[in-house]
Amino acid sequence: MITLRQLAHWKATGQKFAVLTAYDYTFAKLVAAAGVPVILVGDSLGQVMLGYPSTQPVTLEEMIHHTRAVMRGAGTTLVVADMPFMSYQVSVEDALRNAGRLVKEGGAQAVKLEGGADFAEVIRAIVRAGIPVMAHIGLRPQSVHQHGYRTQATDAAGRRQLLLDAKAVEKAGAFAVVVEKAEASATGAVTRALHIPVIGCGSGPDCDAQVLVTYDVLGLFPDFTPSFVKQYARLGDAARIALSAFDADVRTGKFPAKTPAPAVSTKDSRGNGKRKKGRLS
Ligand code: KIV
Repeated sequence: MITLRQLAHWKATGQKFAVLTAYDYTFAKLVAAAGVPVILVGDSLGQVMLGYPSTQPVTLEEMIHHTRAVMRGAGTTLVVADMPFMSYQVSVEDALRNAGRLVKEGGAQAVKLEGGADFAEVIRAIVRAGIPVMAHIGLRPQSVHQHGYRTQATDAAGRRQLLLDAKAVEKAGAFAVVVEKAEASATGAVTRALHIPVIGCGSGPDCDAQVLVTYDVLGLFPDFTPSFVKQYARLGDAARIALSAFDADVRTGKFPAKTPAPAVSTKDSRGNGKRKKGRLS
């Protein structure tokens, strides 16, 4: 089981680690099988899974639903669930109640929220309740209408604010902090100043860990890919080719084959039941 102690140990020993998003059972299994130690059920599921224009419409119910699915496939990875927009901004009581729901109903082991010094009180209260908190500073997509999507900490005041936010969330008890789309040297300074792991997302190489959206890494999300993402595969293209081959086969009568393949599976179409050795029909 990946624990907070393990992450703290990696920070102390300079061992970098990866974090990837997952929003469902199958992808949680894939990420876990790849050996990635931390899964983030990000509210980016709003765009990637649900087709919303931003993360703002995502509800707590949606986060709980997807977190439950991820938990069934996550194995020994540490699962962190995002607190969606307006689930922690109204009051500390509200934040506590909603963080509690992500843990009790979703099964998450920790929660993430977007906020620095301005949310220290909320972080402190959730941590006091026994729920580990990952903070998220720099670019905060939930506040897009206030700050936009521009790179953060590009001037002296911005660098000061980033460091102040980072130190405030550490002091409030956060076990790690995501720094999204902040200037690389400013993020490096934060990484050196903190004792908790700093997880970069488009904030340069000088971080303790890196997080990306799995659909971006695999080339699966069709709408846009942030400039800082490295695509390790083009599964979207591969899927389109496979699906149109199926479509063509059905239209031309090539699928299903006239002579059925020998029955080798006792599983139903969902994979229930026993599977015998051999090719599936
Ligand atoms: O929602 C998300 O996926 C995130 C990461 C990109 C950091 O917050």
